[in-house]
Order: sequence, then structure tokens, then C-alpha cells
Amino acid sequence: MSDRKNKQVVLRAHPVGAPRESDFECTESPLADLEDGQMLLRNLYISLDAGFRQWMNEGAGDGYLEAMELGKPVMGLVLGEVEDSRNSDYAAGDLVMCRSRWEEYTVVDGSDYINKLEADPDVSPSCYLGILGPTGLTAYFGLRDIGKVQPGETVLISTAAGAVGSTAAQIAKIRGARVVGMTSTDEKCRWLADELGIDAAINYRADGGLEAGIAEHCPNGVDVYFDNVGGRTLETVIGHLNERARVVLSGALATYNTTEPVPGPYNMFNLITQRATMAGFMVTDYVEQYPEAMEQLTAWLKSGALKNIEDVSVGIESTGPAFCKMFAGGNRGKLVVRLEGAAR
Ligand SMILES: NC(=O)c1ccc[n+]([C@@H]2O[C@H](COP(=O)([O-])OP(=O)(O)OC[C@H]3O[C@@H](n4cnc5c(N)ncnc54)[C@H](OP(=O)(O)O)[C@@H]3O)[C@@H](O)[C@H]2O)c1
Repeated sequence: MSDRKNKQVVLRAHPVGAPRESDFECTESPLADLEDGQMLLRNLYISLDAGFRQWMNEGAGDGYLEAMELGKPVMGLVLGEVEDSRNSDYAAGDLVMCRSRWEEYTVVDGSDYINKLEADPDVSPSCYLGILGPTGLTAYFGLRDIGKVQPGETVLISTAAGAVGSTAAQIAKIRGARVVGMTSTDEKCRWLADELGIDAAINYRADGGLEAGIAEHCPNGVDVYFDNVGGRTLETVIGHLNERARVVLSGALATYNTTEPVPGPYNMFNLITQRATMAGFMVTDYVEQYPEAMEQLTAWLKSGALKNIEDVSVGIESTGPAFCKMFAGGNRGKLVVRLEGAAR
């Protein structure tokens, strides 16, 4: 066992409702020596993803991820640089992204969920967790394959100021749509208009709520709804769908913190009369198409058509608080934690 230490954030309590800072604790433990086939990653960035909240619940494991256990490091996506390798497929200096843990160093072998990155030197490596990674790809494939967005159509997006939402809003604009975003404050609405240049933004907490906001800003109805929240928001939007509208089920944030089952939309019949479709997807369905999509996203990013909007938190100790901030609507764009080693 080496005398080097690894700082990790462990799950102290299964969150009940919205996650709290006390659900997480930063601890220190010795770094294990490498065995044959393994490598040591010095993590540069940790990705904070709202969807991971679901696997923090007790017994929440499913076919996709196992439930997170108390006292164990919290699972998440990280981007790291290989510092030492006893695996012939990886050399010191390689940049990799993997499903790992909230920690400064990670020991992995090639069998873990891991991708070696051919990073473009002109973009920040953190982009590969966000706009050029699962976040951007979710927006890209959701709009392309399920939303099938056409120029001139009205695209409505929930959590438009968040990571997936702000990317979807930008891509829908590039595709020539009229884009309306939803968020929780007037200040974030202004930010959406100024920073992303979308056509209108709805504060769903304002007087009259979402119903009045959609009626005002989507007077001709909704052709594509990119849904990150589910719940009552989805129900309200269903009431405004146009004929042949498409609902892209990306996430269900409104249900991640609930302790009781959330009732489904009462108005599904509207999908029938409007001949509308609604489909869910996982970004991982598209792994084989990642390279072409990343090429397109990189081109848009480098041309300035797409902005990399990041909300950066610094240091491993900030990981738990930053995750909680996301559930209080405190982030703009992609939340990442920059770790000490991230000079590049
Ligand atoms: N299908 C896939 O493969 C896939 C992949 C990645 C992500 N996703 C989904 O994409 C969605 C967005 O994830 P993200 O990581 O980009 O997070 P995010 O949008 O950056 O952050 C979460 C945002 O959601 C809103 N929010 C927080 N708590 C909420 C609640 N209880 N009810 C409603 N809204 C709430 C807040 O925005 P406001 O202040 O604007 O309300 C907050 O800023 C999630 O549903 C996630 O599961 C899907």
C-alpha cells in the first residue's frame, strides 16, 4: 500500500427528498498499489449529473447502475489523466473518461466503463463530460431522432438553463426552430434570452404558472417538447401539443426527489387526438454514433454556433454542495468540479 492519500466523497446518508450537504462527506484513504492490468488516473474533472440522484436511494439499483451504498464513494463520471499504467492499452498522459467515483485518484482496469479520448487541443477537456460528452449527446440525439426538429417548428424545453437543456436549446436554434425555454426564475429567463438567444423563456413559478406562460409564448402550440422533468410539467405541456407533435422523454427530474409515487398525466388522450408521439431514450443507445455526433458538436463549438456553458466548482470538497445546488436550481449549464490536477 502506498503512503499516498486519495480524497473521496462518500455517501453518508441516502438523500430523502432533495439531497443535502450532510448526505455527503469528504474522506481520505490510502491509495492502493497497482496490479497487472490496472492504471492510476489523476482525475481532472468530475461531472455532476442530475440523473445520478436516482441511484442514491436505498436499494435503487437497476439494469443500468447498482444502488450507491452508505460509506462508499459516490458514483459519477470523471475525466482523468493516466498517471501510471500497468495496462498495455493505456500509457501515462492518456486522457480518459470513465464511470467512476467522486475522488481525486481512481484505479481502473480496461474492463471498466472507460473511453480513451482523442481530445481536440482547442477545446477544454472538461467539454468531454459536458457539451461534447453525455450531456451534449443527449440533447443531440434526442432532438435529432425523437424530436425530428424541422425549421420553423416550435420547440419547448424544460430545465432550459441546465446542462442538457441549454445544449438542446442551442441545437434547436441551429436547426432553425423557434425555441422556448422553461426555468424557475425571472433572472434565469433573462439569462436564457441574453446568453443563449432563445426566442422566449417562461418562468414556471410566475403568476399564472406554466399554463399561462405556454399560452403566451407558444400561441400556435408546441411541435416538439424536450422533457427533462416529467410530472405536472409534462401534463401541462401535453395540453398544448400540436398535431403530429413529438415529446422527447429525456429525464424526469420532478420525480427524482419524491418519496411517494407521482401521478401520471391525466390527459394522455390528447396524444391520441393530436396523433402525437412520446418516446424515451438513453443516450447510451447511440454509442456507435458518438464519433459522428461529437464531430458535429465540435464543429459547432469551434465555429461559435454552440457555446460551452459550464458552471465550475473547484476542489473535491465542493462536490457534494455543488450537487445539492443543482437540485435548488442554482446552476447555469453544465456543472463540473475541477480538481487540483486540472491544469490542462
Ligand atoms: N436520457 C438520457 O440518456 C439522459 C442523459 C443525461 C441526462 N438526462 C436527463 O437530463 C435532465 C437534466 O439533467 P442535467 O444533468 O442536465 O441537470 P441540469 O438540468 O443541469 O440541472 C438540474 C436543473 O433541473 C431543475 N430542477 C432541479 N430540481 C428539480 C425538481 N425537483 N423538479 C423540476 N426541476 C428541477 C433546475 O432548473 P430550473 O431552475 O430551471 O428548474 C436545475 O438547475 C435530467 O432529467 C437527466 O436525467 C437524460
